[in-house]
Amino acid sequence: MNLPCILAYGSFVLLFCTLETSGAKYEPNWASLDSRPLPAWYDKSKIGIFIHWGVFSVPSYSSEWFWYAWKGQKIPGVVDFMQKNYPPDFTYADFAPMFTAEFYNSDQWAEIFKASGAKYIVFVSKHHEGFCNWPSKYSFNWNSGDVGPNRDIVGELANSIRSKTDIHFGLYHSLFEWYHPLYEKDKANNYTTQDFVRTKTMPELYEIVNKYKPDVVWSDGDWETTDEYWNATQFLAWLYNESPVKDTVAVNDRWGKNIRCKHGGFLNCDDKYNPGVLQKRKWENAMTIDKFSWGYRRRANINDYLTLKDITKVIATTVSCGGNVLINIGPTHDGRIAPVFEERLKEMGQWLGVNGEAIYESIPWSHQNDTTTPDVWYTAKKTAQGTAVYAIVLTWPKANQLVLGAPSTSTTTVVSMLGYPSNFSWKPNPGGGMTVQIPVIPFDQIPSQDAWVFKIQGLKN
Ligand SMILES: *[C@@H]1O[C@H](CO)[C@@H](O)[C@H](O)[C@H]1NC(C)=O
Ligand SMILES: *[C@@H]1O[C@H](CO)[C@@H](O)[C@H](O)[C@H]1NC(C)=O
Ligand SMILES: *[C@@H]1O[C@H](CO)[C@@H](O)[C@H](O)[C@H]1NC(C)=O
Ligand SMILES: *[C@@H]1O[C@H](CO)[C@@H](O)[C@H](O)[C@H]1NC(C)=O
Repeated sequence: MNLPCILAYGSFVLLFCTLETSGAKYEPNWASLDSRPLPAWYDKSKIGIFIHWGVFSVPSYSSEWFWYAWKGQKIPGVVDFMQKNYPPDFTYADFAPMFTAEFYNSDQWAEIFKASGAKYIVFVSKHHEGFCNWPSKYSFNWNSGDVGPNRDIVGELANSIRSKTDIHFGLYHSLFEWYHPLYEKDKANNYTTQDFVRTKTMPELYEIVNKYKPDVVWSDGDWETTDEYWNATQFLAWLYNESPVKDTVAVNDRWGKNIRCKHGGFLNCDDKYNPGVLQKRKWENAMTIDKFSWGYRRRANINDYLTLKDITKVIATTVSCGGNVLINIGPTHDGRIAPVFEERLKEMGQWLGVNGEAIYESIPWSHQNDTTTPDVWYTAKKTAQGTAVYAIVLTWPKANQLVLGAPSTSTTTVVSMLGYPSNFSWKPNPGGGMTVQIPVIPFDQIPSQDAWVFKIQGLKN
């Protein structure tokens, strides 16, 4: 590859060509890593699905933090549950053979994700329990190849997503493991040793990237110590410069207790982070349909799940402020996506089918929410005809009149509703803004039930 440059242009260009192909574009420090532009697909996508699956899906009690709740926090309800239902010598590891996954059909999952309207997924490859959902070379008997499913859970899903959809495939990975002996030893040494990072965390991260080529590396479990212990910048420099996904991969910010909400690719900050105001950097709201857990929970009742109305509110408030939504489901130990999750995801897909024009590839507008009417959130898009502004309305306007304070109207302003065929009449408000008169729409012609998008063109702002 270098040869033509050498022959044609001599030694000066030889140096240039060598630099180009060695690919050492980013250095292992945050200033350099933060200068990498986030791949454009990520911001355009807006909606992703998060999937928490692991050995914790067997008890499917309390949450995916079950092991820690039982042995670490000793939460009475969890301790009682184990005492009443399992033999006294039962260990957490004994749950692994019950992680049977006999109904796991990754093609079916891919069809559900496609129908949800999501553009990427983030699948838990390994949670804090340390169980690898792929047959890792660096795990003995605590991975899906050796115990439980006896399958490559991650590989099967990666294949289905790539063959059945155009969704981007991403992986979640926990840096730390609650009870790994080498991690506990490094911790006891005040993180002056890195045996766990050298023999487990790093080999594993390189393995999943080389093997499954994820477009998202979603890191977690970083908070007990700094990025220095995790060797995070060294890994990211490799990921950005040399890995098989160097041009497409997006990463988050959980790379050390001093890094979160500051450095990395997009910012997750805290779980369910949703600041309600425009952010300077790209961010993501990782949230979950079961209000109380990320892993499957058998005792959840119907009120514990977000409704489609709740979900559209999360989408509107997040996307208007420049964020992506990563919406979580927890499959069962036997590999099913429970009907309640399937229904919520498909309802979301129907809503996005009508209203996706306001979401996908949108940009924040000058206002994020309306100045007069609550529950109205804005997005925008540049078009050949100028900027189109989308008002996402979460509460149906009183008396069919939508009063908006933020838009600055002109004589050419036109208002319509996504999914409805005709334009609406409107008039300017005396003090600024506009009032849209919504016609009486027959029940069977209402395009959505939970949130409505008004498209406004020809504004002055
Ligand atoms: C670990 O580091 C902290 C903070 O520097 C210090 O207070 C503590 O004594 C150290 N512990 C050990 C076991 O070295
Ligand atoms: C961390 O990175 C440094 C610098 O590249 C390297 O010398 C060291 O071996 C790495 N340590 C681990 C545990 O990966
Ligand atoms: C809506 O925007 C205003 C600024 O116009 C801001 O002060 C307010 O907090 C926002 N409302 C919500 C619910 O975030
Ligand atoms: C809505 O208004 C725009 C701009 O005047 C016009 O191009 C379009 O045809 C109108 N749509 C309908 C259905 O009347």
